[in-house]
Amino acid sequence: MKRLEDKVAIITGAARGIGFSIAEMLSEHGATSIIIDLNHEAVDAAVQQIDDMGNRAIGFTADVTNSDEIASIFKEIHKKFGKIDILINNAGITKDGLLMKMKESDWDAVMNVNLKGTFICTQKVCRYMLKSRSGVIINIASVVGIMGNAGQANYAASKGGIIALTKSSAREFASRNIRVNAIAPGFIQTEMTDKLPQEVIDNYSSAIPLSRMGTAKDVANLCIFLASQEAGYITGQTIQVDGGLIM
Ligand SMILES: NC(=O)c1ccc[n+]([C@@H]2O[C@H](COP(=O)([O-])OP(=O)(O)OC[C@H]3O[C@@H](n4cnc5c(N)ncnc54)[C@H](O)[C@@H]3O)[C@@H](O)[C@H]2O)c1
Repeated sequence: MKRLEDKVAIITGAARGIGFSIAEMLSEHGATSIIIDLNHEAVDAAVQQIDDMGNRAIGFTADVTNSDEIASIFKEIHKKFGKIDILINNAGITKDGLLMKMKESDWDAVMNVNLKGTFICTQKVCRYMLKSRSGVIINIASVVGIMGNAGQANYAASKGGIIALTKSSAREFASRNIRVNAIAPGFIQTEMTDKLPQEVIDNYSSAIPLSRMGTAKDVANLCIFLASQEAGYITGQTIQVDGGLIM
């Protein structure tokens, strides 16, 4: 029997990058991965890729900031499967700039997707998990939410908020056997980091004790552990996957 056999897992922002890698790995471990992302074609392609490997995935096109849309999708998923076991809040964006010059619209956009989106999905899923007295929620934060980063005040605040939200929801849900943890990735190679100037990439990479950027699979591996019963006594934690970048 596979480690996550028959689990129903929702992963937001999973059409590419870290989210896709998590969805792919969850399905390899026996779960049905439910991919939620903004772009219809990208969602279809991601589902197809998992399907081609002989594993189970379905997709929904939605914006995590739209609470009505998220509520109705989660209702449909629950109706189809009779349960929702795992939620991975992964959807996230950056709109970098120095604080002094940061547009309020860039502050709002990042806080909305990263922090409010995580709140909305958690709130909409918890009614099902509370009723079934079981569930796992994993929030994708960032090391930047712990250490701060010049040029990313909005992003760092949103990720620091996710860490606080993780602890608060872990405390609220623990008595109902729902575990909530956060993963704080360091510098991971995806389309999000590909757009950074080479100089920034080189500076980051030289500061990493393990001397390489992380991969989406490095993050997904921890996700599998946290989602599994082996992590049954772990809640409210933020675990870094950063090659030793901060310690
Ligand atoms: N790449 C890194 O170095 C790194 C480091 C730390 C944390 N993270 C976090 O990991 C997560 C994934 O990052 P990534 O590098 O794979 O990024 P990415 O940009 O490659 O992928 C993000 C995905 O989220 C989707 N998305 C964005 N806004 C959305 C919304 N409103 N509703 C639904 N989906 C939405 C995008 O369409 C995209 O498919 C993010 O939360 C990011 O902040 C990434």
